[in-house]
Amino acid sequence: MNFVWGRKGSWSKPPPGSSKRTKPRNGKLCPVLGFVCCMVFMYMAFGAVKFRTQEPRSSFVKRNGTHFMVDGRVFYVNGWNSYWLMDQAAEASSRSRVTEILQTGARMGLTVCRTWAFNDGADHALQVALGIFDERVFEALDWVIVEAQKHGIRLLLSLVNNLQSYGGKTQYVKWAREEGFGSSSTNDSFFFDPSIRSYFKIYLKTILTRKNHLTGTEYRDDPTIFAWELMNEPQYSSSSSGFKEMQEWIEEMAEYVKRIDKKHLLTVGLEGFYGPASPPEKTKVNPGKSYGELGSDFLRNSKTPDIDFASAHIYPDNWLMDANLTEKTDYVSKWVTSHIEDGEKELHKPVLFTEFGLSDKNNNFDHSHRVTFYKSIYDTIYESALRNGAGAGAFIWHLLVGGMEKYTDDFGIIPGETPSIDRLIKEQSCRLIALQHGKDLPERSSTVC
Ligand SMILES: *[C@@H]1O[C@H](CO)[C@@H](O)[C@H](O)[C@H]1NC(C)=O
Ligand SMILES: *[C@@H]1O[C@H](CO)[C@@H](O)[C@H](O)[C@H]1NC(C)=O
Ligand SMILES: *[C@@H]1O[C@H](CO)[C@@H](O)[C@H](O)[C@H]1NC(C)=O
Repeated sequence: MNFVWGRKGSWSKPPPGSSKRTKPRNGKLCPVLGFVCCMVFMYMAFGAVKFRTQEPRSSFVKRNGTHFMVDGRVFYVNGWNSYWLMDQAAEASSRSRVTEILQTGARMGLTVCRTWAFNDGADHALQVALGIFDERVFEALDWVIVEAQKHGIRLLLSLVNNLQSYGGKTQYVKWAREEGFGSSSTNDSFFFDPSIRSYFKIYLKTILTRKNHLTGTEYRDDPTIFAWELMNEPQYSSSSSGFKEMQEWIEEMAEYVKRIDKKHLLTVGLEGFYGPASPPEKTKVNPGKSYGELGSDFLRNSKTPDIDFASAHIYPDNWLMDANLTEKTDYVSKWVTSHIEDGEKELHKPVLFTEFGLSDKNNNFDHSHRVTFYKSIYDTIYESALRNGAGAGAFIWHLLVGGMEKYTDDFGIIPGETPSIDRLIKEQSCRLIALQHGKDLPERSSTVC
């Protein structure tokens, strides 16, 4: 099923200005032959354009102050993570998993999926060596984008990992050393070594200007992409010089992305910790003192002019090991509220919580704990939206389909296995859709809500 996002109407609606030509003169015949009329119109209007012009043209997500906008309306995100889309699309035998999760997401009213658009040197690598790309894997990513578009889902694409899974910064540093030019073996040199920065830019340019082999559209021109994320959870190991170097890296890479692609929004990919440039009442919100020493600095990094919106992650199990659920939920409420407030008072940009999760390895874990915890986050986003705040949405970490046990961690959820969670996700989708559209609901929501 195809939709036009956030807007009533469909592909057959004539563009403004051409309505006279297409208005049916024969009121009796055309209802019967409406489809034929439309086809004739399409043909007349677009000539020999390929048949795929039948697919909806969606529009880019934009920003106005602390809000995302689509087609002139405020857009709140109920999103999810499935990091594995490109990886699973690389083999014909697992492609159906991608379709299945996109279908499932759409059925729950989810609108944006965050996923990896990188794989540096691991199995199914996109980048197999510095500046060398596997066409077959790029074709898999092309296909993922088309498939997302078909399901009315936009993609938040992350561009490199801080962690070692799927290669990450450590792989770049290793490659540089093997080629004999890396200035240092520390993985922090990903941020400061000029030659590694250049190689990362080659990757950026390659992906931004990639021409989708299925649609002929370059990625930078494709509105299916919600936004780019520079890096998943950037951190520095040696923090003394780290804050400065990471900020410089963010500025340089953000400027480079914007030079090539002015249409898409861009975020850093931060976890949200406050660093030394933040006021003390903010650093106190960190889960502990050491979290302020990891090289990232939420306010300073997110203020970067080429960065369009801020992001933060939510992992109370990793941050507050000994706390019980009530304490974790209370803490998270403070964390989320603080970042939304930053978006409003300091950054004047939207804030997305691009990962949140509750571990199933906790003592006495029960699915109802996730319902309580997720609901507290969803409620805060919804309350922010109700008062026109900067809290623009949240993304569950993470959704899988059956048979993917190997791809999970303590946080994975398979929709269909816990109805209470599915229901909660859908409720959040529906109240956000209702808030955005009022009575003028888009077609897809009638099948969801
Ligand atoms: C952008 O936001 C401002 C302030 O909320 C509002 O006055 C203005 O109408 C918005 N512009 C658009 C294009 O929505
Ligand atoms: C980076 O290097 C440090 C020091 O060698 C190491 O402790 C850390 O695990 C590495 N991090 C990653 C993400 O590879
Ligand atoms: C959680 O811990 C706090 C502080 O130790 C305690 O007051 C509270 O009763 C605990 N809550 C539960 C549900 O165990």
